[in-house]
Amino acid sequence: MKRKLYALAFAFAAALLVAVAGCGGTKTVTRTVTAPATTTSGRQVSEQVAAGAHDFVQFACVKCHGERGRGGVSPAVPGLTAAGKGFSVAQLRSIIDKGLGESKNPSQPYMPVWGPVISKRQVSDLVAYLRAGLPAVTGASAPPVQTAQGAAVQGAGLYVAYGCINCHGPNGLGGVPNPQAPDKTIPPLSGEDFFSEFDTDKKIEDVIRSGSVIGRPPIASMPHWGGILSDQQLKALVAYIKTLKSS
Ligand code: HEC
Ligand code: HEC
Repeated sequence: MKRKLYALAFAFAAALLVAVAGCGGTKTVTRTVTAPATTTSGRQVSEQVAAGAHDFVQFACVKCHGERGRGGVSPAVPGLTAAGKGFSVAQLRSIIDKGLGESKNPSQPYMPVWGPVISKRQVSDLVAYLRAGLPAVTGASAPPVQTAQGAAVQGAGLYVAYGCINCHGPNGLGGVPNPQAPDKTIPPLSGEDFFSEFDTDKKIEDVIRSGSVIGRPPIASMPHWGGILSDQQLKALVAYIKTLKSS
């Protein structure tokens, strides 16, 4: 009911703006209309918590920690429902910026280092979301991955849903800075160098499964996706990567 009222108020304000614009006058109207952010059950949340919920999806926290941090994806990844209360703000910031856990074991998922990739503001929003108890914010869910249109299409969907795009760029073009790493950037998944080093499906699949440790924080490393992505999903990602520019 409340949600309907908001929607009505929003529609009314929008109609007003259209009416004013339609008068043909020379007056510039600069009024912004914002509907409050809500959970799927209509409860209001702050804009910061809403932004954190969207970041949680965009950076694929949800793919390792489960929907709304409820766990159940892999025994190696904890749920996050207690983390908001169990850790201080400073501890949560540090875990997100610097990662956590055994990163050298290629069969064990670890908490990736996000410092070079996620902005301070986004980390604050994520922490606010964790501390608010990970509510179900309207619209904060990954776009569905198509599985019936071939492996490459599925892989393209996974590339976004599992957040590969945040580190390797759209179309695998790279360019995301990783200042303390030897080559100062997160590598592209396209181009001659990439395809000459990763010249078999198996090599590409293996590095996605096992990740790679190129240093300690604050260097971002390739996360371990084994136990998170199924073998079939790994093959779909390989099929997608092989459609990217090779020269
Ligand atoms: C590739 C999988 C993966 C992704 C993606 C991931 N995490 Fe984690 N995270 C882990 C693992 C594994 C641990 C447990 C590390 C340990 O204790 O050894 C962890 C631990 C944590 C913890 C500490 C929880 C506790 O009880 O010890 C927090 C907080 C956390 N992650 C937040 C996030 C946030 C926020 C994101 C998104 C920006 C994220 N994680 C993305 C795998 C992941
Ligand atoms: C937190 C950032 C991050 C995320 C998220 C991430 N990667 Fe990576 N990835 C890296 C880094 C850093 C390297 C380079 C590791 C090295 O040089 O040892 C890398 C390396 C790779 C490589 C080998 C390329 C090379 O030149 O070394 C492939 C293939 C790859 N990633 C695929 C993926 C896929 C597929 C996903 C999504 C499931 C993904 N990555 C998600 C950071 C990331």
